[in-house]
Order: sequence, then structure tokens, then C-alpha cells
Amino acid sequence: MAKDDRINNANLDWGATDTDQPAPRSIFFDDIYFSGDGLAETSHVFLHGSGLPDRFQNTHRFSIGELGFGAGLNFLAAWDSWRQAPKPDGARLDFFSVEAFPLTLPDLVRAHAAWPSLSTLSQQLIDVLPPPHPGFHHIEIDTGVTLTLYFGDVLDGLSNAEGAIDAWFLDGFSPAKNPDMWREEVMRELARLSRDGASVATFTVAGAVRRALNAAGFEVEKRPGHGRKREMLAGQLSARPSPSSTRKPWFVSDDPTRLTPGARVGVIGAGIAGASLAYALAREGFAPVVYEADAPASGASGNPAGLVMPRLDVGDMPDGRFHADAYLYTVQLLNRLQEHTTENLFNPCGIVKHALKDEEKKRHKKLLARQPLPEDWLITCDAGLSFPQGGVVHPPSFVNALLGQTSIRSTAVNRLHKENGAWRVDSADGASDTFDAVVIANGLGALQFQQARSLPLSGAAGQVDWFPNASPPESAHVFGPYAAPAPDGGVLIGATYAPIAIGDEPAFTAEATQSNINAIAALMPELARTLDPTKSRPRASIRCFTPDRMPVAGPIPDWGFYGSAYDGIRHGRLEDYPPGKMQPGLFILSSLGSRGLVTAPLAAAMIAREMAGAPSPVATAVAEALHPARFFIRDLKRTVNIRQ
Ligand SMILES: Cc1cc2nc3c(=O)[nH]c(=O)nc-3n(C[C@H](O)[C@H](O)[C@H](O)COP(=O)(O)OP(=O)(O)OC[C@H]3O[C@@H](n4cnc5c(N)ncnc54)[C@H](O)[C@@H]3O)c2cc1C
Ligand SMILES: C[S@@+](CC[C@H](N)C(=O)[O-])C[C@H]1O[C@@H](n2cnc3c(N)ncnc32)[C@H](O)[C@@H]1O
Repeated sequence: MAKDDRINNANLDWGATDTDQPAPRSIFFDDIYFSGDGLAETSHVFLHGSGLPDRFQNTHRFSIGELGFGAGLNFLAAWDSWRQAPKPDGARLDFFSVEAFPLTLPDLVRAHAAWPSLSTLSQQLIDVLPPPHPGFHHIEIDTGVTLTLYFGDVLDGLSNAEGAIDAWFLDGFSPAKNPDMWREEVMRELARLSRDGASVATFTVAGAVRRALNAAGFEVEKRPGHGRKREMLAGQLSARPSPSSTRKPWFVSDDPTRLTPGARVGVIGAGIAGASLAYALAREGFAPVVYEADAPASGASGNPAGLVMPRLDVGDMPDGRFHADAYLYTVQLLNRLQEHTTENLFNPCGIVKHALKDEEKKRHKKLLARQPLPEDWLITCDAGLSFPQGGVVHPPSFVNALLGQTSIRSTAVNRLHKENGAWRVDSADGASDTFDAVVIANGLGALQFQQARSLPLSGAAGQVDWFPNASPPESAHVFGPYAAPAPDGGVLIGATYAPIAIGDEPAFTAEATQSNINAIAALMPELARTLDPTKSRPRASIRCFTPDRMPVAGPIPDWGFYGSAYDGIRHGRLEDYPPGKMQPGLFILSSLGSRGLVTAPLAAAMIAREMAGAPSPVATAVAEALHPARFFIRDLKRTVNIRQ
């Protein structure tokens, strides 16, 4: 199955039986999901076979990986067992599962009806189940419990995943009917993604499975099986085979930062980047402290309204994948946050993207043919494209909702330096504090820190105009310029775009207001006529961007090491390099460009998960497209004209 294949739901036969018990059967694989009380088998093979719940005790973080999410029974049972296990405060469970054919919602509901004891958890899962869209889905399902689902083929999912798994549940139909799921390459990926001594458990004792597991470094033994299956397999990773990874070494860290719950993380900047980090770090059980030179949402994240719509690419490249995934994640996050506040945080009014030129119409056609979003998330309309789930956010409320109860220091950070293995943060109020890790998240201001100075960040000033008393259109309309119903009422139009030198302050002008009105008049003359420039509340701020227009998100390299270790690239040598060295515990989330309100939350989750060593919410190729080292390596390659 190719990476960009669409996802088809499973096709089930509910009339099937297995030893006289009803048993939902996959028509495609001609095998059953479970028969009778599948729960007893799950409990025997996967939970007890993996030493659970005993291993949950006294652990701060436990990660389960599964092949075949199916009806989610193993997940529900593991989550239930975790909830009941005695464990330290703030302990985290990560469940990562791959699934090529997700069940439809009605099938899932019907399957779950067999397990009334799990009905509460089942409902929680059903409420947040992602659409059948290929790739990674990051679901914060319960306090301290995260479900990472990869929809697509098992090998694609594993080879694009990052994380350290403690226990593997191998549950991919019988090897005779589905040999693909049990290939040696699959088992090698399991070994790569395993923590030392990771366990493996499965219902099958097929010789081919045992051999594939052994070849990948797992030592397994037969144990009594459940019901009519006499035997099952269980074991541990005892040796790691030599890595088969084709990963680019400069994007791999030789000694990744691994924080335990409670670790203190300093975040510099309280715009959407810093606030998203505060939220994501807290979800991982860390203790973020956010430094803000002015007030939260006082920079680019302080506009009275912002569009929540994705940047879509016609090709299936990591950049486009990231923007599509980030959009799905942020829309779901905003809807959840809106449920818990009385503020007008998000107006899900839908967005219409107009195609005015033939070229744009052709592009829209190509996009629709490729469908980079779930089917009902991108549809055609008379004007062009429509994003029914998109809408308009009130950025300051978004920032505040994400910050929640985060501890905020109202002062600028002046300097960062490493001291006895920790990061010391010196601030303008004369204070100095140490952290286990620090994330630079202050937009273009990142360049003030020597550790980030070599990143190619630049700024573009922009102005939006808000007319609080104007009559808004029902949906937001985008055609280059845009007009949107602001969450607090009225109309927001924008935006101008002008280069600005580093250090210069942006300022709004009457000319920019008129230019925004004139731009709207090209498509919406009636609306433009109602916009009185003297009634505008203009706001100017700076977008920070990189040459490739992607955010910079991830660990900050040890630039000295990069300079010497990879110098051979300049001479055309692309092989045999050591893994990268990062500045331990130092990360950045910046250059969110013109889409930061959409992209910051997922990029922040990626960073927080990396610090935790938890399964990543994005594909490896996406993490590489955001990696701070990419410019350095590209520059080296450019000297010999090698394409990355
Ligand atoms: C005109 C305009 C319109 C836009 N429209 C949209 C839109 O419709 N949709 C969308 O998704 N995106 C939009 N964007 C982009 C989006 O606003 C940005 O990508 C995003 O706000 C950037 O967030 P940030 O947190 O990186 O930076 P900022 O919001 O600028 O936050 C940086 C924070 O760091 C603080 N800081 C700086 N230095 C220090 C220091 N040394 N110590 C402590 N704190 C410090 C600053 O005070 C500031 O609060 C728009 C941008 C502009 C300019
Ligand atoms: C027995 S079911 C899993 C049951 C599930 N663990 C549960 O607890 O409900 C096996 C699953 O593996 C999935 N599967 C089969 N081949 C696959 C492949 N190549 N890649 C990903 N998933 C696959 C099937 O679609 C099916 O949902």
C-alpha cells in the first residue's frame, strides 16, 4: 500500500460466527476481529502476556505499540487497566497503533456494544475518533493518556514513526491470511522503535512470525493461549539488529533530550507559539514557565481575528502533509477549547477560497483530485473551494485558552546559557532561573539569542483592519486578500505585506487601511463600500518566516559539531556520517509565517512529545521538513549543487 493511498474503511460481515459465537469478520482479510467475549482474550494475550498491569506500577511513562487498531478493544482494555493501576502522580500512557482499514463509526459502536464494562471509555473514544484520513492522528483522549493513530499500511506507519515503545501488541489477523503484517521488515521497525527490553505479545505461534521476531532481536517463548488457541507468543527485545534506517543522520540526535514528568521547561514568548508549547508541555506532564517581554498575544498573535485554513500543496510532500495535519489538529483543538469557554474563541463559519484566474482554477482541480484533507473537509463550490470546518479564531483568546494556568513571568529574556547540565535564563528584571529544557518561541526575536542566530529568519510586516460595526459576510472569503466575520462581531479584512528590517517596529497606517479596503473591493465591492476607513481598528505586526516558508521547530543543533562533522557534504560525500549533536535541552518554535494560528499547536505537540520520548504526532519526513538543521545542510549541499 503506497503512502498516499486513500484510506478505505473496513468492510465487515456481522453474520459470521466462530465456534458458534458471533464474530465480526473482515471481508477483505477473511478473518475475524474477535469472537464471543474478545475481552477475555485481550486480557490474557496482550495485557497479561505483556506483564500488565504490574509493569504500569511505579512507572512515570509507559508506551504501548500495536499492529492493527481494529475495533480498539486492546486500546480500551489497556487504558482501563492503566486507570485502575496504582502509579505515580502525573504518570503518562501512550498508545500508538497502526490501522490500514479503520472501522466505520457504526461498526465501531456495534463492536463496542459487546463490552458494556468499557462503555464510558468507548464513548470517549468515539467522541474523538479521527476521520479516515491517511497519516498520523494525535489524540489527547484523557488526562495523561494519548492515542497516536496511524492510518495506512503497517510498514509505512512504523518507518515514519518516532518514539520508544515498552510493550508491543501484535494483532494483525492470522499470518496465513495476512502475511504482510508479520514481515521481517515490520519486526525490524518494531525493534528500532523499542525501548531496551521492550516486550512483545501475540496470539499466534506461527513459525514465520517467530523467525521474523528472532531475526529482529526479540527472544520469544510459547505460553498457554486463550480459549481454543492452545498457545501464544510472548518475549522481549534482547538485542538490537544493526539499524536498517535510511534516516538522514543530521536529523537524528545522538543523545536525544528525555525529560520525566515534572521537568521544568522555560518557554520564551507568549504568542501562539509559546502558548501552544505551554499547552503541549503541560499535556506531557512537564512544568512550563513562559517568559513574555510585553503581554501575552502582544505580537503577531494579537490580531482581532485570524483565519483557520490550511495551506494546501498540489503534490504530496512533507510540507503539504504538515499543513494539512496541522489544520485537522487545530480545528479539533479549537472546537474542544470553545466548549470550555464562554469567550468567542472560534467561529466555525467555513471559508470559501475563490479562484479568480484560470491558473487558480486548475490548481483547485488538482487539489480536489488529490484530496489532501478528509473528503468532507475540502469541497468544491461555485466560487472555488470550500473549507466547511474552517473558520475565524480570536487569537488573543486562543493564546489565553492554551496558556490556561501556566506560570508566566512578565519580563524579557536577555540571555541563555548552559550551566551544570541545565539552561540558565537571565531576564530583564534581573532574575535568573534554571530549567531542564528551554524553547525559544519569540518569533523574529529568536535571533537575539546566540544559540539561534545562524537560522535564516526574516520578517514581513502586515496590517489587518477590523470594522467592529460593519455587517459581516456569513463565511470568510479568501482570494489573496480576505474578509472574515470576526469572532467578536464585525468584519476583519487583510492583510498587507511589506519587508521590515530586524529591530524595526511595525506601525499601522491609513494608507494600509485604504489598501486593504481597495483589495476587498475587487471581489466584494458592496462590502467594501460599507467599510469606512475612519471606523477601522487597524493593527500591524510582524510575520517571521524562513526561505522555504516552513516553521522552524525542533532541537537546536550544536552548530560547531555540524560545521565539522558534515563538512564533507560540501565535497559531494553524502554517506557515512555520524548522527547529529544537538544543544541538549534547547529547542525552537519560530517562523510560523502567515499560518501560525493553524500550525503552532501541532508543531508544539511534536516538540513536547520529542522531549518526552513519546510517539511523535507527525511523520519523520514532516519532522525533518521542520528541523532547524535543514538550512545548514542545504547550504552545504548547495555548494556542490546536490538536491536534498
Ligand atoms: C497581518 C497578519 C495577519 C495574519 N493572519 C493570519 C491568519 O489569518 N491565520 C494564521 O494562521 N496566521 C496569520 N498570521 C500569522 C500569525 O499571526 C503568526 O504566524 C503567529 O502569530 C506567530 O506567532 P508567534 O508566537 O511565533 O509570534 P508572536 O505572536 O509575535 O509572539 C512572540 C512573543 O514573544 C515575545 N518576546 C519577544 N522577545 C522576547 C524576549 N526576549 N523575552 C520574552 N518574550 C519575548 C513578544 O512580546 C511576543 O509576545 C498573520 C500575521 C500577520 C502579521
Ligand atoms: C484482528 S484486527 C485488530 C483488532 C484490534 N487490535 C482490536 O483490539 O480491536 C487486525 C487489524 O489489522 C488491520 N490490518 C491488516 N493488515 C494491515 C496492514 N498491512 N497495515 C495496517 N493494518 C492492517 C486490519 O484492518 C484489522 O483492523
